[in-house]
Amino acid sequence: MIYIKSKREINLIRESGKIIASLFKNIKNKIKEGVSTQELDEWIGDFIKGKGASSAFKGYRGYPTYSCISVNEEVVHGIPSSRKLKEGDIVSVDVGVKLDGYIADAARTFPVGRISEEKAMLLRITREALRRGIEQAKAGNRIGDIGHAIQSWVEKNGCSVVRVLFGHGVGYFLHEDPVIPNFGKAHRGERLKEGMVLAIEPMVNLGKEQVRVLGNKWTVVTVDGKPSAHFENTIAIVNGKPLILTE
Ligand code: MF3
Ligand code: CO
Repeated sequence: MIYIKSKREINLIRESGKIIASLFKNIKNKIKEGVSTQELDEWIGDFIKGKGASSAFKGYRGYPTYSCISVNEEVVHGIPSSRKLKEGDIVSVDVGVKLDGYIADAARTFPVGRISEEKAMLLRITREALRRGIEQAKAGNRIGDIGHAIQSWVEKNGCSVVRVLFGHGVGYFLHEDPVIPNFGKAHRGERLKEGMVLAIEPMVNLGKEQVRVLGNKWTVVTVDGKPSAHFENTIAIVNGKPLILTE
């Protein structure tokens, strides 16, 4: 069942979203060679608590840390560790924030120092895939319009879309209906309506789409070892159009 949110509730989700936007702005200069992903996670935890909010990830199905930090071939759900970032890495930071009971969820993939041209291209394609997906999230369209816009753009650019993980409704809970595949057919699936709040999150691989889960039961990596990128925003459908709540 899809929970429709009121204007007031969307504003509350936006307050959580603003914390994430400010977090991404501030974490940029912390992402550099030599920092461990655990140090970044501790900084993220302090930042969120400093705003009077809490992490929507820590404790979710037993998830151990405040954020997901996924490096290079790690697609999503990287668990922060003593691994240190190196120049040339790309690092996805995924954060869910809960304030006054309302949750927003977003992710960005950052370069560490100078990165290869193919990694830079992967970041541009994935960011644009998210923009194109969001553009379709308007009242009267269907879920399939989002996935179709993302998939066709990504594949036209020679990359592949991860098919085993999805975007989702968000707000009262981290994961609500509907499921939002990053692939699909236009004009198919559930109709999008005023007041829906959606986390749209393309995961794009430079190589093949196949992924597997590591022994820690969380971290998703590419099978071919090639890099993957992830951008996510929480949006609300307001006045028929997508309103981004995490920028
Ligand atoms: N943003 C992630 C998602 O929507 C949430 C990570 S799962 C958690 O899939 F366990 F870390 F919360
Ligand atoms: Co999400």
